[in-house]
Amino acid sequence: MDYETILTETRGRVLLITLNRPKALNAINAQLTREVIRAATEADTDPEIGCIVITGSAKAFAAGADIKEMQHTTYAAMYGGDRFADWDRFTAVRTPIIAAVAGYALGGGCELAMMCDFILAADTAQFGLPEIKLGVMPGIGGSQRLTRAIGKAKAMEMCLTGRNMDAAEAERSSLVARVVAADTLLDDALRTAGTIAGMSKPIAMMTKEAVNRADETTLTEGIRFERRVFHAIFATADQKEGMAAFVEKRPAKFTHG
Ligand code: CAA
Repeated sequence: MDYETILTETRGRVLLITLNRPKALNAINAQLTREVIRAATEADTDPEIGCIVITGSAKAFAAGADIKEMQHTTYAAMYGGDRFADWDRFTAVRTPIIAAVAGYALGGGCELAMMCDFILAADTAQFGLPEIKLGVMPGIGGSQRLTRAIGKAKAMEMCLTGRNMDAAEAERSSLVARVVAADTLLDDALRTAGTIAGMSKPIAMMTKEAVNRADETTLTEGIRFERRVFHAIFATADQKEGMAAFVEKRPAKFTHG
């Protein structure tokens, strides 16, 4: 597949998606949206891919939704086209997705990172939802996901002032899983992705689904969901293999079934 706004590369069982609109600091336009979603959804059904990494450049993961593309848009076009609803197909991807963020992750860029399963940040990363400074507000889930990630007080302050958060503050606030040196970010992300991709793909998918339930339902329902999925895992070959490998003191060889 020939993409124009992203680069894709397979490293073992990991798909690396690199956002590639350098002149616009990887601003998210309609084409980049289509291409990222297509690459991720195709990988989701590919048994040879066990984890996806999304990254940008050293300067910018992504500096937001494309302001120039949106500038003259009307309410009718926004509402009629249900702008940004396509991202629901990205968040429905069941394969684990890591955002490897260096530089600016602002507005839609921060929102894309938060739509991934977790964020690994370079020490150069800057996160923010500066939409209010443009006379708009977050539109790809930012007001909801940032609040769930870091709590109301900090999320409210960030959304209302539009200020950025550096990598250290993002780690303290639990927005990111881990901060690493900028020059090792991609290697760290690919190594972490390789670890995940080495697990059973169906079990990793079920684990992702269960963790995501925590954001969406009550504790009682979430625990019921977890228990039912746990029971179902005993119908998989990978459960048999994983436990046999432990007992036989050898590495597990998952068949992803
Ligand atoms: N959309 C379109 N183009 C953008 C862009 C964006 N979000 N961010 C940067 N660019 C473009 C700039 O217009 C510039 O293009 P030209 O060379 O043609 O002028 C190029 O990328 C380089 O940017 P700068 O010259 O501004 O680079 P800088 O180093 O001086 O500043 C920055 C970097 C602080 C990130 C600055 O570019 C910036 O503030 N960008 C906008 C950030 C922002 O407001 N994001 C939110 C967008 S709205 C949104 O995302 C809505 C939503 O929730 C869905």
